[in-house]
Amino acid sequence: MATATTSSSDRRRRRHYLITGGSEGIGAALVSQLVATEQNPKISIVGRSRDKFDKYQKELLTNAEQRQCCLTFYQYDLSLMHEVKALAAELEKSAEPLHAIVHCAGVMLPQRTVTKEGLETVFALQFLARFYLNHLLAPLLLKNSHEQEEKPVVVVVSAGGSITRHPSQLDWDNLQGEKSYNGVHALKHESIANDMQMLRYQQLHPKIEWYCYGPGYVGDTQLLAAMPTAFRWMAGMAGHVIGISAQQAAKNIMLLLVDDGQAKREETNHQSVLYQRGLKAADERKIKRRMQTENQEKLFRVSQELLKTVDITIDMYVVP
Ligand SMILES: NC(=O)c1ccc[n+]([C@@H]2O[C@H](COP(=O)([O-])OP(=O)(O)OC[C@H]3O[C@@H](n4cnc5c(N)ncnc54)[C@H](OP(=O)(O)O)[C@@H]3O)[C@@H](O)[C@H]2O)c1
Repeated sequence: MATATTSSSDRRRRRHYLITGGSEGIGAALVSQLVATEQNPKISIVGRSRDKFDKYQKELLTNAEQRQCCLTFYQYDLSLMHEVKALAAELEKSAEPLHAIVHCAGVMLPQRTVTKEGLETVFALQFLARFYLNHLLAPLLLKNSHEQEEKPVVVVVSAGGSITRHPSQLDWDNLQGEKSYNGVHALKHESIANDMQMLRYQQLHPKIEWYCYGPGYVGDTQLLAAMPTAFRWMAGMAGHVIGISAQQAAKNIMLLLVDDGQAKREETNHQSVLYQRGLKAADERKIKRRMQTENQEKLFRVSQELLKTVDITIDMYVVP
């Protein structure tokens, strides 16, 4: 009797991707590339607006159906830590293995705003939620990893070590823009924190591949939608010169996610956690303070304390 067999490459390719912010911009471009190139993947997309997802994804859903992809939308506001917790619980309950997380959910805001949990919105969404979701989902990522030929992967889309000019370290006394705030600084700040986060997680969970990726300016997304018109106009002009498209950024992320990415990275770079546009590895000499374990541990302690302010307690990290 003939037996249907699954080759190792088939097994490797049938993967479950969690893409936060996958309804627009870089995240949406990544979803479309996964649909076009992966063998019947499961893709879980997180965003606040179901309408946005439905509208944007109409064409994608048809492609996905044709290519037997399973696309699921999860409606959560990830600037709220209790919603991050609920999302992780829902994913765990589904008992589906998870192979990769790509954190793309983000906003740029001209004024300091505070969530109903009392945290500054940009820092909450673009750093703390990612930190907390990684913490909650690391066990799920590791659960079936022994059956796979590849390690699970986590990619944070931020700046990938490219913020090197002054101030190039965390302003510990102004983490949430309490003393001073502007939209550009808030993004630089979360970027530095994300670099430190991924460098630390790489130490704590070496059975997962952790990356922070910075595409530089990406022109065709909605990130600047809440910024003043003059700012958007100037950014648009600069974007013509220095910008890349969301599809180009997604192509880089694909190399970090899929199997031939490893070979590609070995060919072009030394192994790194922090990558920039074109998968250029960060220059670690320029980000020395981020590389220091005591600074990374301090950030993790501060993050634990911030979570406590919203009545969430997390255990200390143990290397599995
Ligand atoms: N664009 C750039 O030049 C650039 C450069 C470097 C790094 N980045 C980073 O790349 C990431 C993606 O940016 P983008 O340019 O693709 O932005 P975008 O086009 O505005 O897309 C943002 C995505 O995040 C989701 N989102 C926003 N707030 C959310 C929340 N509270 N909870 C859950 N989902 C939320 C949005 O959906 P909903 O609105 O429906 O929630 C949308 O799907 C951001 O972290 C950004 O900082 C961007």
